[in-house]
Amino acid sequence: MRMVDIIEKKRDGHRLSKEEINFFVNGYTNDTIPDYQVSALTMAIFFQGMTEEETADLTMAMVQSGEQIDLKAIEGIKVDKHSTGGVGDTTTLVLGPLVAAVGVPVAKMSGRGLGHTGGTIDKLEAVKGFHVEIENEEFVKLVNENKLAVIGQSGNLTPADKKLYALRDVTASVNSIPLIASSIMSKKIAAGADAIVLDVKTGAGAFMKTLDDSIELANAMVQIGHHVGRETMAVISDMSQPLGFAIGNALEVKEAIDTLKGEGPADLTELCLTLGSQMVYLAKKASSIDEARKMLEDAIASGMALQTFKTFLQSQGGDANVVDQPSLLPQAKYTIELEAEVDGYLSEMVADEIGTAAMLLGAGRATKDSEIDLAAGLVLHKKIGDKVTAGESLLTIHSNFEEVDHIKTKLYENITISAERVESPVLIHKVIT
Ligand code: URA
Repeated sequence: MRMVDIIEKKRDGHRLSKEEINFFVNGYTNDTIPDYQVSALTMAIFFQGMTEEETADLTMAMVQSGEQIDLKAIEGIKVDKHSTGGVGDTTTLVLGPLVAAVGVPVAKMSGRGLGHTGGTIDKLEAVKGFHVEIENEEFVKLVNENKLAVIGQSGNLTPADKKLYALRDVTASVNSIPLIASSIMSKKIAAGADAIVLDVKTGAGAFMKTLDDSIELANAMVQIGHHVGRETMAVISDMSQPLGFAIGNALEVKEAIDTLKGEGPADLTELCLTLGSQMVYLAKKASSIDEARKMLEDAIASGMALQTFKTFLQSQGGDANVVDQPSLLPQAKYTIELEAEVDGYLSEMVADEIGTAAMLLGAGRATKDSEIDLAAGLVLHKKIGDKVTAGESLLTIHSNFEEVDHIKTKLYENITISAERVESPVLIHKVIT
């Protein structure tokens, strides 16, 4: 088999066989096929696309390029949730204890990463003593006992995806639906998920900016799941404005606690119940989505969800007192209000720019080596559609430095107040099964 023939075949719009896909993925992983040939192929895929079958074959070739986590020692159906990423996305912190409280095993492997805030691990490390450096055996034991544990990413999972993603990033071929879909799904499958729930964000703060693109990506991922025998569902959710109120690590932990108590922001609560119902249903703990939702609502009302969070924090060394006394979480030195300059209705709050403002406060990493300020971030008081009076606080800035004028300017530039009444955006655009 020759790589040049595979490039030519795709360039001319033909389907690649499983053998051809395995040949190029293995060759690239083993350094026997050079970057320039693979970049020609990814560009050909960018223009010609891939069929569902090719996309599934590419996914499995990437899964098989490295280690795969075996979660068989964990009892029950392991359902993983993946979000394509957004601003103020506190869902993982809420969903873990919420679905664990009704018996769904959550064996979460998480990372830190770059972004507006830290990753799930950074957020959880805002709880004093909490750590994810646990042995695999301990991880399995904790999930079996408490239904929830989080471990740091280790092992050489999907090395082909790492190389391909890095290459696509510098050759303008990231934005190809089959390449994105296979990249995301390969990581979930290699991490041992039996079933997958996808939260595909759409809007200014999302990777996919338009609803049509988001739907196409979600469909492609659900189809991969069906082809490779992993039940998969997707929710397309709004990310034109940040989700919930909090953007920042400790601030999001506090918001997760509020939500588990039933006192969280309406949008975050609704999204968690929607995604959580799918997880419970796919884990076969309920016979319908409606029944699953009722179980989750009951777990919040009875305090079980909150108790599961406490047990989880404690079992990984964390100070569970934060649940009853959130003031034990890291607190910023300064809290500064951003006041509305005019009366009207909040009509725009550009999610990614608001996220960048939180990052500039120290809530996220700009580079791999940046330190995160766990206390820093923003807490919104108004969302799109809300009535606003001049002088009222739109949001609170939590900062460990006093001079935040440049952040205020950025926030004002990205928040619009209009005279006419504006509808709040639809939260759940579509559910794909
Ligand atoms: N996220 C991924 O993990 N892969 C892509 O290709 C794009 C976004």
